[in-house]
Amino acid sequence: MNTLVLTAHPDLSTSTANRKWFEALSDIEGIVTRNLTSVAGAEMHFTPSVEQALLEQADRIVMQFPFYWYSSPPVLKAWIDQVLLFGFAYGQGGDKLQGKELILAITTGGPAESFQAGSFNRFSMNEFLTPFEQTASMVGMNYLPPFVLHSAMSRDKTKLEASIAELISHVTKPRIEFHNKELIKAF
Ligand SMILES: Cc1cc2nc3c(=O)[nH]c(=O)nc-3n(C[C@H](O)[C@H](O)[C@H](O)COP(=O)(O)O)c2cc1C
Repeated sequence: MNTLVLTAHPDLSTSTANRKWFEALSDIEGIVTRNLTSVAGAEMHFTPSVEQALLEQADRIVMQFPFYWYSSPPVLKAWIDQVLLFGFAYGQGGDKLQGKELILAITTGGPAESFQAGSFNRFSMNEFLTPFEQTASMVGMNYLPPFVLHSAMSRDKTKLEASIAELISHVTKPRIEFHNKELIKAF
């Protein structure tokens, strides 16, 4: 299985969790990591044909990012807008992503228990992530359970290290081993 990891952090040099994840995933055979901020620069400009060629070679795409204002940092939205084009991802002839898999790998500042009705974040992660789930559906991708590390800023080193092994296991797991009931991997 060829896996493409799209890492969308505005500055990995200031990151703790996403930098660790990016470095660990970069060492795994069969995984190609792509730091979208380095690729696109401050203008967030992508070359669609380059990104699309990488997508065509992948069976599974992982979007890895810190949760920013209930969504991804803007570089991932720029990538989606510039790459998932008519005739490639949807519309006539737009079947190039059909059957591929999508996994989201996310770190949040908020604790797990805040992502529910009655707490300050009010909604579940799955509810916040529905635009990604629907984007996958629109382009014919199979949306697999997201992997979420909560309280990412307050994690001690040991817990962050432990999340790396769990993340690798999650993103390398064959699709057949994901069960319907398994909604989200929260720490
Ligand atoms: C602009 C901005 C917006 C953020 N919005 C949220 C948010 O909506 N929910 C949340 O739980 N954490 C939020 N955070 C906290 C980040 O998710 C947290 O800093 C990040 O996951 C830590 O990962 P890193 O060490 O790789 O930077 C936000 C942080 C920033 C800088």
